[in-house]
Amino acid sequence: MAKNDFKVLVGCTGSVASVKVPALVEELKNESLDVKVVATDASLHFFSADSVSVPVYTDREEWNAWKTLSDPVLHIELRRWADLMLIAPLDANTLAKIANGICDNLLTCTVRAWDRKRPLIFCPAMNTHMWEHPFTAKQIGILLEDLGYIQVSPVTKKLACGDYGNGGLAQVKTIVDVVLRAIGNEHSKERRDET
Ligand SMILES: Cc1cc2nc3c(=O)[nH]c(=O)nc-3n(C[C@H](O)[C@H](O)[C@H](O)COP(=O)(O)O)c2cc1C
Repeated sequence: MAKNDFKVLVGCTGSVASVKVPALVEELKNESLDVKVVATDASLHFFSADSVSVPVYTDREEWNAWKTLSDPVLHIELRRWADLMLIAPLDANTLAKIANGICDNLLTCTVRAWDRKRPLIFCPAMNTHMWEHPFTAKQIGILLEDLGYIQVSPVTKKLACGDYGNGGLAQVKTIVDVVLRAIGNEHSKERRDET
């Protein structure tokens, strides 16, 4: 599969770091990736769907798309479409939901239905006190060890709330590099399967 055929589904949540979603999408597009976005309602307090040059799906589109039994189910269509899922930023709320199998919106339903043979990369972003809460390490452990997802660790910095500490979203460039590495691994796997 050529790189520009590679489909990346970006999930974003209600972290203030969602202000970076438009820039992240542009960087992924600059790498010739095909990108779509799934946004929680809370994430849209931090960026406008109009400021993103790719389709942005929310719970509203999920329910508007389905009226009768023969209609498509958006979270299943999206999991079929995507080769890789990138959740950036992943807030404490959606982290807890994913770790516990909760699926109560378009993003968490897509993750619950995710084909775990495909890469899922997550980028936590939260206040440092939330980051240091014992639930966080437990839940991240589930995503890494039980589910086989890939983490782009948060960074230590002065956070938007004014606190200094760990929990800031990784740099856009770091995130894109991890995505590109995961795509490279998928291509190597494909080549091995062909031989
Ligand atoms: C201004 C503001 C900034 C927030 N930033 C964060 C954040 O960086 N990380 C986080 O885990 N929660 C943050 N929250 C809390 C989440 O928005 C809240 O838990 C929300 O319910 C998340 O919903 P979602 O996971 O469905 O997107 C913030 C809330 C507000 C009002």
